[in-house]
Order: sequence, then C-alpha cells, then structure tokens
Amino acid sequence: MTCSSDTARLTDRFGRTVNYLRISITDRCDFRCVYCMAEEMTFLPRKQILTLEEIYTLAKAFTELGVKKIRITGGEPLVRKGALELLQNIGRIESLHELVITTNGSQLDTMAPALKAAGVKRINVSLDTLDSDKFKAITRTGDLQQVLKGIQAAKAEGFERIKINAVILKGRNHLEVNNLVQFAVDNGIDISFIEEMPLGVVSRHDRSEAYYSSELIKSDLARDFSLLASTEKTGGPSNYFKVAGTQTRVGFISPHSANFCSTCNRVRLTVEGRLLLCLGNEHSVDLKQVLRANAGDMDVLKQAIIDAMLIKPEKHEFNIHEQPVILRYMNMTGG
Ligand code: GTP
Ligand code: 5AD
Ligand code: SF4
Repeated sequence: MTCSSDTARLTDRFGRTVNYLRISITDRCDFRCVYCMAEEMTFLPRKQILTLEEIYTLAKAFTELGVKKIRITGGEPLVRKGALELLQNIGRIESLHELVITTNGSQLDTMAPALKAAGVKRINVSLDTLDSDKFKAITRTGDLQQVLKGIQAAKAEGFERIKINAVILKGRNHLEVNNLVQFAVDNGIDISFIEEMPLGVVSRHDRSEAYYSSELIKSDLARDFSLLASTEKTGGPSNYFKVAGTQTRVGFISPHSANFCSTCNRVRLTVEGRLLLCLGNEHSVDLKQVLRANAGDMDVLKQAIIDAMLIKPEKHEFNIHEQPVILRYMNMTGG
C-alpha cells in the first residue's frame, strides 16, 4: 500500500503522536565523553552513512507527516562537512516550526552566526563542569575555554534560547550542580540535568555507583536557589523549574527516577538511516534501505515511516544495575 495523503499523522499503538524528529548527522566527534563513547572508537565508513541529500529527503518526508520540530545532533553535528548547508535546507521547510541543534560547543565560536542565519532557533550545549581539569577528564579531548567562548558567541547571536545539558555522575561532577546553575543564571540561559543512561559499555566508571538522581540534585540546589515548579514544556523530556527572580529555567531529565515515556513524542534517525523508535530499545526500521531501493518515491518512504509507528515500544528498558542491553553508544543517536 502507498500513501498519497499529506495529512496522514504519525500515531503509535499507545495513542502518542510523533511530532519531533532527532537526526544524528554524524557518529564522529572531536570529544570522547566518558559516558558516551569508548576511548578507542571505530567510526562508520562513509558509504554506510546517509548522504546529506538523503537526510534532507527524510526530513522533508517527516515534516509532510506532521513533524514540527527537528533537532540535529551527532556525534558532534558541526564536524560533518556540509552541516550548514543541510541546516539551511531543512530550515527552509515551511511546515517546520522549529529547527534546533544539540552540540558540544567546540565550533560555536565561529559557527554561531551561520547557524542563526540558517534558521536554527535554539541551541543545546553539553557542559558538565566549569572546572578545566574535570572537563578534560570527562571529555578526554575537549577544551573548556573553547566551549565557553562558543556559548558567548551564541549569546551574542540572540538565539531564542540556549540550554546547557549536564550529565551528572556521582564522584565526578555532582558537587558542581550549584555552580552550573549559577553560571546559567549569570548568563541568562537555561540548564537541564540528565541522569546517565546505560548505552554502550563504558570503562571509566560503574554506572550503578555513579547514579545521582534528579531528587538529590534538587536538594543540593535548594541550598542556594528557590526553584518554582513550572508546567512549561519544550516538546522535550525535561521537567522544568524556574529559578526564582531570574530568567533561568532548570530542567530535569530523569529517565530512571521519573519515567517520561507515556508522553513520548519523538523518534530518532541514526546516522546509518535506521529509524529508532525509542532511545532505550532496539526497535527500528531501515529507512536507508527503503530510500535506496525506491529512489525518488516519496509515497513509499512515507508509508514506511507511518508503518514504523506500529513498533514504537511503550517504554525504555534501562537498568543501570545491569550490564547494558543496548550496545549502541549515544553518538549513534545524539541523545
Ligand atoms: P529541548 O527541546 O530543549 O527540551 O530539548 P531536548 O531535551 O529534547 O533535547 P536535548 O538534546 O537537550 O536532550 C537532552 C537529553 O535528554 C538527550 O541527550 C537524552 O539524553 C535525553 N533524552 C531526550 N529524549 C529522550 C528520550 O526519548 N528518552 C530518554 N530516555 N532520554 C531522552
Ligand atoms: N546518558 C545520558 N546522557 C548522555 N549524553 C551522552 N551520553 C549519555 C548517556 N549515556 C548526553 C550528552 C549530550 C546529549 C547529546 O546526550 O551529554 O548532552
Ligand atoms: Fe561527543 Fe557529545 Fe558524545 Fe561528548 S556526549 S563524545 S560531545 S557526542
């Protein structure tokens, strides 16, 4: 069966509507964050990954099926050659409400103006610590000053919102949550704290021992800040609070302590063209194969996407106390 109706919507078996697509445009990265990658990584050969044209075609198909928000991720999306042109092209899709990006910030210093011009509305920057040595220890290769310069460059461009994403690990950066919020307040930006998810095997820490819950972070923050509950949503999984007397929102992404799967509105496209129906499960459909076997046939592609919704799982199966069942690393999906 083919689909010729552009009004079709993406709905799964649990009545959830998918209107948010996250696209990983490269598995490569100039950092090697300890919770995201192994130290020695083998990246995918070029012919195995989607071309920029294929990514654009897929983005177009999803928007024709009702997707309103696209987030470009990686690896580090800005290390892919042609990333800007791709962003410009996706930014021109009329029915798209929001083009947003998640980056490690290493190239923002020079690329922020071009991102703004391409129509990127909001930027999320991963930043787990404000201590240069700890930053190096977490990212293995990153330079804190470069990322801070990048955040300033993004601020100067006046994006609608800039948000820091911080993965908090006990014993590594859990003592820094108050400093990170103060940094966000001082810069008039937002911050989300993320509970680490067991994706891929990591060598530097035991995930069960490093677990630091959102509740613990909230009680740490209560020492210095007053957090006012907010019903605000960005279409992402964060539960937001406002820091009283400031512009800053503090979000908590708590896959372990406050599962948000029942309101899931998103799917992910991996760099290999696999449509992942859930970050915490392997259910997927090979859209690269559909694309390459039916070149130019948008109806077949759209029908494959609609059909994929039928295998979207109800919830993730993360368990930090066991060996990871999901062997793919976060760099394949960009979070
Ligand atoms: P906003 O639009 O700013 O709310 O962004 P977002 O939170 O959707 O995107 P971001 O890239 O900042 O995501 C932050 C992190 O949340 C990701 O890197 C993941 O770690 C986590 N996350 C996002 N979506 C999901 C999801 O569906 N399941 C789980 N378990 N975690 C998710
Ligand atoms: N658990 C939680 N978040 C992770 N990220 C990368 N790996 C993990 C993990 N195992 C986050 C990064 C970044 C986003 C893309 O994903 O910190 O903010
Ligand atoms: Fe790179 Fe982001 Fe993974 Fe760190 S979390 S290694 S910055 S993709």
